[in-house]
Amino acid sequence: MNAENPAVRNGAGQRVIRLTRPSVVVLCGPAACGKSTFAAKHFRPTQICSSDQARALVCDDERDQRFPTQTFALLHFLIEQRLSINRLCVVDSTALTVQARKNLLDISRRYHVPAVMLLFDVPLAACLARDGRRERTVGPTAIERQYQLFEQAKMTAKQEGFDQVIEVRDDELENVRFEIVFRPVPRPAVEAPRPEPRRFASRAPRPTSTNRGTPAPDTRTPATPNGTPSS
Ligand SMILES: Nc1ncnc2c1ncn2[C@@H]1O[C@H](COP(=O)(O)OP(=O)(O)O)[C@@H](O)[C@H]1O
Ligand SMILES: [Mg+2]
Repeated sequence: MNAENPAVRNGAGQRVIRLTRPSVVVLCGPAACGKSTFAAKHFRPTQICSSDQARALVCDDERDQRFPTQTFALLHFLIEQRLSINRLCVVDSTALTVQARKNLLDISRRYHVPAVMLLFDVPLAACLARDGRRERTVGPTAIERQYQLFEQAKMTAKQEGFDQVIEVRDDELENVRFEIVFRPVPRPAVEAPRPEPRRFASRAPRPTSTNRGTPAPDTRTPATPNGTPSS
């Protein structure tokens, strides 16, 4: 356990990880280490900004790797929109390159929110076994290559500028609980008053048996006190 993240445990023996909202929480780990499963267990679906989902929205197939520019433009756009209204962004992508992590860190800085890296410290053998068991496998070659990048990420993570780097071991994945503390960043867009519930003049009443034949008052043009239309 690293000294920056002494494990806090609750009465049930779970490791308690405190996050603030808004923030950017970057999940980092090779394919099949369990990122998406973990995210789905601990966060609301809308709090998870997933590169697989962005890819699917862009090109109809979350496994089609041909359009990274469009995929990550959409992912980053989504994160920025959520941060602009003080929402939590749990970024579910491998985040294995320094550049991928820097892009997310830069967004967090632009929106003045904390950036947290969550490293999935899962052994290579477990990733390979999990990949082998799932329906659509990534394959050992890709996972082994990603694992090397992950080893580098573990070494450099703390110098990259993240406010917190949290390592979650494989045996802890099932035994973690998050506490999310709301620390809003003042933002004009968030503080703007809500629009009036009824911004349009109500429709003129439909003719009834008592007023049939009488023209309905024109509610679109304000009238002066003496009844003549104002200019
Ligand atoms: N803690 C775990 N223990 C055992 N199997 C797991 C665990 N977490 C995920 N899995 C399984 O491993 C496979 C890969 O998980 P997934 O969450 O899709 O990984 P990733 O998002 O990192 O690619 C899935 O079939 C999932 O059910
Ligand atoms: Mg996934």
